[in-house]
Amino acid sequence: MSIKISIIGANGMVGQTMQKELARIKNKEVEVLAFSRSDEIPPCDIAILCTDDSWSEKLYPIIKDKAKFVIDMSAKYRQAEGIPLVIPEINADAITKDTKLIASPNCTTTGLVMSLNVLEKYQPQEVFFSSYQAMSGGGRQMLEELDNKNSIYHKNVVPTISTTLENGYCKEEVKCIEETKKILNMPNIIVRPHTARVSVETGHSIFTSVRLNKTADLEDIKNLFNSYTGMKFSDKEITPKEIVGKDDVYICRLRGDYYDDKYVNYFITFDNLLKGASLNARQIVEVLLEKFL
Ligand SMILES: NC(=O)c1ccc[n+]([C@@H]2O[C@H](COP(=O)([O-])OP(=O)(O)OC[C@H]3O[C@@H](n4cnc5c(N)ncnc54)[C@H](OP(=O)(O)O)[C@@H]3O)[C@@H](O)[C@H]2O)c1
Repeated sequence: MSIKISIIGANGMVGQTMQKELARIKNKEVEVLAFSRSDEIPPCDIAILCTDDSWSEKLYPIIKDKAKFVIDMSAKYRQAEGIPLVIPEINADAITKDTKLIASPNCTTTGLVMSLNVLEKYQPQEVFFSSYQAMSGGGRQMLEELDNKNSIYHKNVVPTISTTLENGYCKEEVKCIEETKKILNMPNIIVRPHTARVSVETGHSIFTSVRLNKTADLEDIKNLFNSYTGMKFSDKEITPKEIVGKDDVYICRLRGDYYDDKYVNYFITFDNLLKGASLNARQIVEVLLEKFL
């Protein structure tokens, strides 16, 4: 019998790429069912919520009794105690047979955290970054702003993502701080984020400086990036335009620091709808299929 996977919010940016990603599953027979907002969801093995925080909150209590496992793409449950926040290359073991709900991380956090995981042996202490986030990262409505000449997002850089909080940080920045700590299980790592929306259709980019606990050996770090599954290092510049539709997280402009040999600097770019969302979810599904279904 085939494994039934339901995609809820199937017409959104993530829902649509999710349908293509799940079609790539090879080792088990799966039946992928796509649902939009007025549909009744039948029982299934895995339900994937490709909805915003408020809809995930409303839908999860209904879906949890219909599905063996639920994957939520929204931020709603990412910080909840006991809910694994998973990037399979890093912490697939956080999913156990008793897990019901698995959260998939924020797109920007995903690329950043994978690069920090590569640097594990150098014991990252602190990370400064500025993000250049694509319009599709804000969903279908945000993407429509790209061609709207009256929109602030048209041919521009907007130095905030989502709501600004009382402390001046925007919600996106706080997600990056808290999710980095949780995924890496490094409660003391210091994260100093600056997030911006840029007029790019798809492909998030991040300029990063990491303070390490050891002297940075750039040749070794380059090899570490190259040998990590899901990452590619490039000696030449790579821009988001070139990586749309690609699975890997790309690193370029690797440099030491002008002042201190315990810092390393680099540029990250990756497809926010793939490793930042649906590819990560497909990999979570593959963990569930291999271990529990
Ligand atoms: N975009 C990214 O790069 C990215 C990356 C990582 C995580 N995420 C997260 O993934 C989630 C989806 O993002 P998105 O970019 O795909 O947003 P989106 O393009 O705005 O799509 C949201 C989808 O949710 C659907 N929806 C809303 N209420 C629903 C309900 N009650 N039942 C079923 N479907 C419902 C919408 O349906 P209609 O079609 O009827 O409007 C729409 O298709 C968000 O939580 C987002 O934060 C996004």
